[in-house]
Amino acid sequence: MAVLPHLPPAFVDLLILDPPYNLAKDFNGRTFQKQPVEAYTKWMESWFLPLIRVLKPTASIYVCGDWLTSASIFHVLRARCNIRNRITWEREKGRGAKTNWKNCSEDIWFATVSDDYCFDPEAVMLKRRVLAPYRLEGQPKDWRTEDGGSFRLTHPSNFWSDITVPFWSMPENTDHPTQKPEKLIAKLVLASSKPGAVVMDPFLGSGTTAVVAYKLGRQFVGIEIDETYCLLALKRLAVAKDDKTIQGYANGVFWERNTLAEQLRATGSKNGERASLDSTQSLLLEVA
Ligand SMILES: C[S@@+](CC[C@H](N)C(=O)[O-])C[C@H]1O[C@@H](n2cnc3c(N)ncnc32)[C@H](O)[C@@H]1O
Repeated sequence: MAVLPHLPPAFVDLLILDPPYNLAKDFNGRTFQKQPVEAYTKWMESWFLPLIRVLKPTASIYVCGDWLTSASIFHVLRARCNIRNRITWEREKGRGAKTNWKNCSEDIWFATVSDDYCFDPEAVMLKRRVLAPYRLEGQPKDWRTEDGGSFRLTHPSNFWSDITVPFWSMPENTDHPTQKPEKLIAKLVLASSKPGAVVMDPFLGSGTTAVVAYKLGRQFVGIEIDETYCLLALKRLAVAKDDKTIQGYANGVFWERNTLAEQLRATGSKNGERASLDSTQSLLLEVA
C-alpha cells in the first residue's frame, strides 16, 4: 500500500477489495494471522482511509469477507461511505467441522461514496430454469422456451447461489489459495461501472479483477504484494487477449448452475471448446 500516495486523486470509478480475511492463511509464504476484531478493524482502516482519496465522488465500493471479517467491514465502511447492501455468496466449497457449522458462504459488502452512483441491474440478469411454467390465458407468464428449456430472466438479488469457487479443471484456476471466480467479479463490474470506467483492486492476488475488467472493456489498476501472484495476473491477462469468455456469463446474461447443455446451445459452442460455463459444467465438459 506504500504506492497509494503516488496515485492521483479521484480517478477510480469502482473499488473492489478482497483483503486477507480475519483468519490464519498462508499467501505464498506470507502468513496472515487471525486477530482480535479491534486489531483487524484498525488494520483495515490503515489502508481503507488512504484509498478514499483515489475514489471519484460517484464511485462504488465492494468489500469481500467472511462472517467474522464482516464485523470489521461494517464498522470501517459505515464511518466513511453509504452502505447499500450485503450480498451473501453461497460458495459451496467449505471444510466440514466437528463443533461448528461448515463455513460455506461469504459476504460482499456494497457501498458508495455518495448518493450519485452507477447501478445497472439489467446488465446482471440471471437466467433461471422455470420449474413450474405458469401460463396466463394460454401464454407463458414471464418465461420463454429457448435453448432446450423453459427460462426466466430474473432480477439480481443479494443472495448468489449460481457461482462456485474456481475448480482445478477450470481454465481460470491458478495456484492462488483464495482466488475469486471471474463470474462473481463480472457481476460487480457490470452492475457498478460503465465501459471505459476505471476499476481498482489493491489486493489483486491472481489478477481476477484485472482480467474481468479487461474482458469487459474497463480500465484497471491492481496492487499486489507478492511477485509470484503478480506474474500469475500478467499471465492471465495475456491469455485473456485471445479468450474473453467468462464462465457462466454468455449472451449478456448470467446462467444458473447446471445449465451446461443450454449454454452450449446458446453460445453455439461444440463439445471441447471453451464455452462460457460455470465450474461444475466445466468439470463435466473436461470429463466428457
Ligand atoms: C484474498 S487474496 C485476493 C485474491 C484475489 N481476489 C484473486 O481473485 O486472486 C488477498 C491478496 O492480498 C495480498 N496482500 C496482502 N497484504 C497486502 C498488501 N499490504 N498489499 C498488497 N497486497 C497484499 C495477498 O498476497 C493476497 O494475494
